[in-house]
Amino acid sequence: MFKKMTKKEYFAKEKELIGTSTVDFDGPVITGGKGAIGYDLDGKEFLDFAGQISLLNTGYAPEEVVNALKKMAAKLHSCISADWPYRVEISIGRKKTEVSRVALAERLIKITDKAMPFKKRVIFEVSGATAVNLATKIAKISYLRSRGMKTENFQSLFEKDILIPSEEDCCRFSFLAFEKAFHGRHGEAHFLSTSKTKHLWAVSSSCAVGRLPFPAPGIGYIGILKKAEDLIAKLDKIAPVIALVFEPVQGEGGINVPDGKALKALLNYLKIRHNICLIADEVQTGFGRTGKMFACEHFGIEPDMIIMSKSLGAGLPIGAVVVNAEKFPDLEPGMHSGSMHANPLAVAAAIANIDLILKKNLVDRSLYCGEYALRRLKEIAKFHQGITDVRGLGLMIGIEFETVEYRDRVAKKCKEKGLLIANCGEKVIRMTPPLIVTIDEIDKALDIFEKALEDSKN
Ligand SMILES: Cc1ncc(COP(=O)(O)O)c(C=O)c1O
Repeated sequence: MFKKMTKKEYFAKEKELIGTSTVDFDGPVITGGKGAIGYDLDGKEFLDFAGQISLLNTGYAPEEVVNALKKMAAKLHSCISADWPYRVEISIGRKKTEVSRVALAERLIKITDKAMPFKKRVIFEVSGATAVNLATKIAKISYLRSRGMKTENFQSLFEKDILIPSEEDCCRFSFLAFEKAFHGRHGEAHFLSTSKTKHLWAVSSSCAVGRLPFPAPGIGYIGILKKAEDLIAKLDKIAPVIALVFEPVQGEGGINVPDGKALKALLNYLKIRHNICLIADEVQTGFGRTGKMFACEHFGIEPDMIIMSKSLGAGLPIGAVVVNAEKFPDLEPGMHSGSMHANPLAVAAAIANIDLILKKNLVDRSLYCGEYALRRLKEIAKFHQGITDVRGLGLMIGIEFETVEYRDRVAKKCKEKGLLIANCGEKVIRMTPPLIVTIDEIDKALDIFEKALEDSKN
């Protein structure tokens, strides 16, 4: 039975029954969607310029992905592919397509070739945060192996009644991350995140993290370098610094686009001078979001690993880490696995989704549409003093406000008028629409945004 309910009634149930710590009670209760348009429980349509926070680079219900899902579900909806892999033939359109972990890995290896021009391997996970945790785990294992550590060396730890990792040399590592970084809400991903103070609730880890200023334009590179040296010296006394985890363009922290030259120089320095592993978190920036398949390509950065999720599987739960296979030998049996890794439906969706991004050239489209939107937003900003900055790359755009109050009023008004956007950073509105968005839809969205600015003035 499907009982009729108003939005208000539904939200009340959410509050009563579910942990709702990030639910946007000014936003929609989604009943479906097509392209860049979502449908709200109150019967209205909305333009989704949050793109479900970069989950939906190919939009709501992309035909190819939906067909692949239907076909795959009829053949194999689940299995523990980490133990018993699958290989299934389905037709997507008129094309017979292989759905398997290998077929997806081949695509991921190919599309990361520009950012990682060397031999690579793919390891699957279920989400962004778990993929970040996996990447840090690989960095730790690799470091220990380089020190000659073998499984038998863990025997003494295995036999302890009480194990305190922070007291054991083989469990202690330091990482570097950038200020305002966001990498997820579990384990190391949580520990490495500093985008908001409240994210620090329940943070714990056996490691230390050193936080570097993000090399945004105007932040002196030499100052960051000095800070890095200082932090590394301090951290090394606590535990060896093994990796830097970074978003090439920061999302949750406020859509912060780096000075590409400074970022590249800093990363090269850390890698060459301190042998620090470079882990690019492209969970939000990947799959064409910034106008390149992966944002690292903009800056000529060659990371040792790329973490991906969100739009990898057109928003289905899947994550992956693409690693430099020359630097990181394969994991040993039993080192890493998971029941839900590379679920057949998520893999079918990912294959159809990547093929669609390539076929429709959505990466270039993101660059073109992003430049158009940014230009218009910069024009709009000229007439609104409450906006202090407009920045972005491709269809990853941030509009910074003078005050949180003004930002919040504008965001609320946008939603009332049928434009879904997401807040991020301290005082920023984020626009990350699906890459299939049309110029007409951008114009419509920015007209709504402009009107919301007017209506929200004090
Ligand atoms: C850059 C980045 N890394 C990691 C994550 C965590 O991904 P998930 O929510 O799938 O755990 C996010 C989520 O927004 C993200 O933006």
